[in-house]
Amino acid sequence: MGRIYLDHNATTPLDPRVLDAMLPILRDGFGNPSSLHWFGQQARAAVDTAREQVAALIGASPGEIVFTGSGTEADNTALRGAAAAAREPRRKVVYSTIEHHAVMNTAKALAEEGVPVEAARTRADGRVDLDDLRARVDDRTAVVAVMLANNETGVVEPVAEVVRIARERGALVHCDAVQAAGKIPVDVRALDVDTLALSGHKIYGPKGVGALYIKRGTRLKAFVRGGSQERNRRAGTENVAGIVGLGRAAELARDDMGAESARLSGLRDRLESQLLATPGAQRNGEAPRVPNTANVSFSGVEAESLVMALDLAGVAVSTGAACAAGAVEPSHVLRAMGLPLERVQASLRFSLGRGTTAEDVDAAAKLVAEAVDKQRKSSRAYASKS
Ligand SMILES: Cc1ncc(COP(=O)(O)O)c(C=O)c1O
Repeated sequence: MGRIYLDHNATTPLDPRVLDAMLPILRDGFGNPSSLHWFGQQARAAVDTAREQVAALIGASPGEIVFTGSGTEADNTALRGAAAAAREPRRKVVYSTIEHHAVMNTAKALAEEGVPVEAARTRADGRVDLDDLRARVDDRTAVVAVMLANNETGVVEPVAEVVRIARERGALVHCDAVQAAGKIPVDVRALDVDTLALSGHKIYGPKGVGALYIKRGTRLKAFVRGGSQERNRRAGTENVAGIVGLGRAAELARDDMGAESARLSGLRDRLESQLLATPGAQRNGEAPRVPNTANVSFSGVEAESLVMALDLAGVAVSTGAACAAGAVEPSHVLRAMGLPLERVQASLRFSLGRGTTAEDVDAAAKLVAEAVDKQRKSSRAYASKS
């Protein structure tokens, strides 16, 4: 069975060109970038090249890029670092209710540790409510965290406006750009954020490596402590192969972005129009979105079972639900947008990528319509029997 992968927001396959860049490092480039000898210096040079490549993707200077162990670690480093460096009475952390768990649960952990934390509401269209945010950001706010693109709906958030609000009050801004990088242009100078997180495996690079942009002069306390790697910003011997992969992935994303985003938005719209032709289907997230993501609910279906039925039919999609300790939590993002629970539990996310073709999209749309129909019929049969 030819499988169709429409879950690129969960993770992307490694681009073969990224693999080609990583293999020589994995095979021979074992040096420790902190070592003074030739082996170490080879590794150092490879890390420095990657730093330039990542910086170029987001319009930063190489010296403003810190490599981390994941996008999650980049988010933790930014939020915890800003909260720890803040001076009394400036301590508050404000985040949006649609942030990824990497930000949301870090903020919640900070709250448990006694830091004042507030969540700004989200509008029905998937964008953060700027009036609510403005009401929460005050002279005691240390950092405001709003993502650039949401992982579930693809909605692009008004980060430039968030920055304006935060600046009026002297607060820092952290932006999780894990789902935006490589999909839409990201320019840290134009956005004027203080910190910005990226992840390797969302841009056809390897898993277990991320990057944090830290604007020159920003006061952050280090989160991971140990040696003096990454200019004391993130301790631990560098994942050289991973970093090289992330660098190459960033370079490819920059080269390919224009043509690829036009291709993807065409395919996404093609998929979406077919899905929305299914009776009882509705789009979630009406604000402008990144080109590859569609989130659609199908009334009366149970999304978890639909994901499983589609998997059996060879189509990989996802729900926004998080599965923690065996319990499925409905999507906090769709809930924050005010969607009723039944609709949240009937929602599927489709995320397209480099390998997706028009044939994939058409075949997937047909299989989704069949699976929805089948599930509705069997639940009606069940309801009429009971
Ligand atoms: C918006 C967003 N932020 C952060 C992360 C975490 O990145 P990583 O998987 O590299 O820890 C993800 C991954 O799903 C994400 O979608």
